[in-house]
Amino acid sequence: MTTLWDSLLTQESDSRDWLNPKNWGTPRWKTAIKRPTLSLPMRNAVASGHLPKQANWLDIGCGHAQDIERLPPEYNAVGFDPYYRPKFELLDTTYPVTSLIYVLNVIESDVDRDRTLQFAFSLCTKALVLAVRTDAKESGITSIGTYQKYYKRKEFVAYVQSQCPIGRVIDVGSGHVIVIK
Ligand SMILES: C[S@@+](CC[C@H](N)C(=O)[O-])C[C@H]1O[C@@H](n2cnc3c(N)ncnc32)[C@H](O)[C@@H]1O
Repeated sequence: MTTLWDSLLTQESDSRDWLNPKNWGTPRWKTAIKRPTLSLPMRNAVASGHLPKQANWLDIGCGHAQDIERLPPEYNAVGFDPYYRPKFELLDTTYPVTSLIYVLNVIESDVDRDRTLQFAFSLCTKALVLAVRTDAKESGITSIGTYQKYYKRKEFVAYVQSQCPIGRVIDVGSGHVIVIK
């Protein structure tokens, strides 16, 4: 029989400590912005023809959760964000589609970036939608203390393929990638 003590122990040994903002080296949540429309990478992904026509979708690192409200209704989209929406129960199951939109580029730790990408890939059964910034700028700490990593288009595709070796990586725009399982 599982006791309360057992479940507390399980919680304390949760291996997803990289999702705890207290462990982050920069205030990553400050990078979340509000936009008037569905984000460009989400629009690109939906229009690409590479996603299932209808699917449950988990947007990881959803920030203010505006994309999940604006995705077409045939995508039953839900959102998780370690800071704004710490609904950890959403991470206990898989989804046909998962996404990380402008999340990897604000993670200052190489180890956390790899883990976050691998975790998002592990939670999808069909496709993972990714977006990072590809502005021609130097990566580093910003004036508000956050981190921005700027990728080159091909560099990002190669990085994703190295972290998701069983996936087929499709380049659908600069910094916009879909990984098919
Ligand atoms: C630039 S915002 C993007 C928000 C949203 N996806 C959008 O495009 O509007 C980055 C978000 O990633 C979240 N985040 C940071 N590290 C994360 C991690 N390891 N896993 C999931 N989300 C993370 C932050 O809390 C922040 O809300």
